Amino acid sequence: MSVSKRICMVGAGRVGRLHTRSIMERLGHRARVTAIVDPSREVAEELARDYGVEVVCSSLEEALERGVYDGVVITTPTFTHHALALTALAAGLHVHLEKPMAMNVVECREITGAAERAGVALQLGYMRRFDRNFVDAAELLRSGEIGDPMIIKSLTHGPGLPPAWANDIRTSNGMLAEVNSHDLDTISWFAASEPVEIHATVANHKGADRGVTSEHFYDTLLATVTFESGALASVAGVCPADYGYDARVEVTCTGGMVQVGDTGPGGLSVLPAGNHQHSRPVFRSWRDRFADAYVEEMLALLDVMDGAPVRVGAADGTRAVALVLAGTLSILDGRPVRVAEVTGPDFVPSWQAAAAEARS
Ligand SMILES: NC(=O)c1ccc[n+]([C@@H]2O[C@H](COP(=O)([O-])OP(=O)(O)OC[C@H]3O[C@@H](n4cnc5c(N)ncnc54)[C@H](O)[C@@H]3O)[C@@H](O)[C@H]2O)c1
Repeated sequence: MSVSKRICMVGAGRVGRLHTRSIMERLGHRARVTAIVDPSREVAEELARDYGVEVVCSSLEEALERGVYDGVVITTPTFTHHALALTALAAGLHVHLEKPMAMNVVECREITGAAERAGVALQLGYMRRFDRNFVDAAELLRSGEIGDPMIIKSLTHGPGLPPAWANDIRTSNGMLAEVNSHDLDTISWFAASEPVEIHATVANHKGADRGVTSEHFYDTLLATVTFESGALASVAGVCPADYGYDARVEVTCTGGMVQVGDTGPGGLSVLPAGNHQHSRPVFRSWRDRFADAYVEEMLALLDVMDGAPVRVGAADGTRAVALVLAGTLSILDGRPVRVAEVTGPDFVPSWQAAAAEARS
């Protein structure tokens, strides 16, 4: 039996709590969270208390001084991913890095290089890659049984506003990154082809009422993506959607169609006679829609630490970030943008420059 893995959890916010719970409550036979890192002491201590984690640190550097780990799970705001991933990888540790991988492609390349040099595994937090229905659809598409993908329609609607940093394109690349990068990863995975161009259009329906004042904020998005294979895709996003968390994909192929996801767990469809109302249960959050996938994702991390192949890694993370950047440029410029425009070594997203300067 392999020795229990020691995991350092970096970030004690929404996702840090979710992954800590998966490891401590479901995977305790394989691993333990042995340190929690968060500059917000109160948040870190509360999480540590809830799951009996003894070491609480305010920085990853402090955690590395105080303990020995087998892997690091990074669940912090996107603008911190690059520096934290480089620190963890330089310490020779396996890393699970939440999506989106980083703020731009230059940062993604540096993280990729650091993982290669360290000879450790880097897994990206696209949990749909670990969801049974999504995996079944990908395998069906790969089998060729229903032909080649012609059009892929993917949507994600988030229930409520994410944390403030995630609403601001300067610190997160906005909703396309924070909500819809899951779709960008899925369409590329299902198309099994490289994306060529993206054209995104956005609207802001609820921002003013919810007190969101960040420049370029949008809560509604529609993007079209073309692939080298000739497949077309659409990505739709709404956040806050208020009615629940909604993640669905439909792929029409040359020989059939496959659909993944539903608005709720199913099993109950109410059609009261007389008023023609149709109501059904909906998922409240990504936490319940993908509850099993999040546990599978942490289990997969433990497996890659034992030498299993990485199922969603640096190349996938970089591809999604490239689409996020091209899509954001498309929104700002009001034109279709080729992915190649944002992947050159000199491309600096103009909307990130001021925030990066303020942080340095
Ligand atoms: N896979 C998913 O389904 C999913 C869902 C939501 C968010 N996310 C991603 O997870 C990441 C975190 O999102 P969240 O919603 O948990 O954010 P959050 O704001 O709830 O939590 C982030 C935490 O990180 C802490 N933090 C900030 N800088 C830090 C640092 N240098 N070291 C350690 N901790 C630091 C903050 O104090 C905060 O407690 C983001 O990249 C986001 O895109 C993924």
